[in-house]
Amino acid sequence: MTDYIPGFANHVSTEAVPGALPIGRNSPQKPAFGLYTEQLSGTAFTAPRHENRRSWLYRMRPSAEHPPFTRYEGARRFAPGTVDDPIAPNRLRWDPVDAPAPGTDLVDGMTTMLANRDPADLEGVAVHVYAANADMDARVFMDADGELLFIPQSGRLTLLTELGRVDIAPGQVALIPRGVRFRALLPDGEARGYVAENHGALFRLPDLGPIGANGLANPRDFETPVAWFEDRDDAFEIVQKYQGSLWTTTLDHSPLDVVAWHGNLAPWRYDLSRFNTINSVSFDHPDPSIFTVLTSPSDVPGRANADFVIFPPRWMVAEDTFRPPWFHRNIMSEAMGLIHGAYDAKAEGFQPGGLSLHNMMAGHGPDVASWQSASNAELKPHKIDGTMAFMVESCWAYKPTRFALEHAQPDYDACWADFPKARLR
Ligand SMILES: [Fe+2]
Repeated sequence: MTDYIPGFANHVSTEAVPGALPIGRNSPQKPAFGLYTEQLSGTAFTAPRHENRRSWLYRMRPSAEHPPFTRYEGARRFAPGTVDDPIAPNRLRWDPVDAPAPGTDLVDGMTTMLANRDPADLEGVAVHVYAANADMDARVFMDADGELLFIPQSGRLTLLTELGRVDIAPGQVALIPRGVRFRALLPDGEARGYVAENHGALFRLPDLGPIGANGLANPRDFETPVAWFEDRDDAFEIVQKYQGSLWTTTLDHSPLDVVAWHGNLAPWRYDLSRFNTINSVSFDHPDPSIFTVLTSPSDVPGRANADFVIFPPRWMVAEDTFRPPWFHRNIMSEAMGLIHGAYDAKAEGFQPGGLSLHNMMAGHGPDVASWQSASNAELKPHKIDGTMAFMVESCWAYKPTRFALEHAQPDYDACWADFPKARLR
């Protein structure tokens, strides 16, 4: 793996076979070994230089060589579309999905829970959960609708992509750019986690303002793979998500045949334990934007199409302060997941692998038990440890899928029932 900086125009050059990567030009008349040259554009040709993302691939066969796609029917809970009915302004929470049937790979083990906007809008984000127990051996997945941020919750993932191999475990995240084909292996035999599918502007590091040049997620901690390929002339299925639906076609070879590449559009991984957490050392609870790992901006300055935010282990030292997340109504919509441990605003009911939704202007915050204990706690320095929650926050209200609506916990509102009334006399 080499260093990679999302949101910066750095450039990677890598070859799995010496001499495969042309030097000094992108598309020579006769690439080495008879390789085919292909450009993968992640932004429009004319995007400003600091936004422009593209990579040049040198591969054994062009990706254009494939038969027509037909509808894929194998993943019933993946990309079914959201409900058309009016959405009640209710807070929703979910337990982890049931264990998958034997032989379920990452694609068939995907359950779409929440989505906003339409992929055709080039804005919005979808939140999926996955539960899988089989490797993808002779098939690959490709998402034309957006980049995929993988957030493992249990079990490692090996993502074999066109641009190299990315190994991640719970506590790490990985991003697969829009359009990059990959297959997933499960080194532990099974795996669960979350995927944020970003239809909008590419995830990048947030600006730091007065924080300065260092802090939060540091650029040097993002790693991108070196070139890797497989030379397999077997039948290979490609499942593609395109305009909100799944499609399939079959090749007579593995499309993971990129021998060399260079550019600034690439998969990457990041270890969340490297996040440099910043918080109050005097009083008050800063806005949770201090925990932003990545942001996908919208056209409105400061209003994210999607923010990926984490709640990592950290010291709590603020004086005269209600330290957990306070009560909140937000113009932004908040989807939250839990990788491990417990979240400090909820005593119970929010399990690792679970999900919650607090949509635009829905009142939320600590439950009664968490409010009581935090209101009466002695405010010594205290370390929140052994936990990692995250949020995918979006300016677009989420809509649940039919599956999500039918599987929400029936009694989530009860955690905010029975707060004692303030006494004015
Ligand atoms: Fe909130």
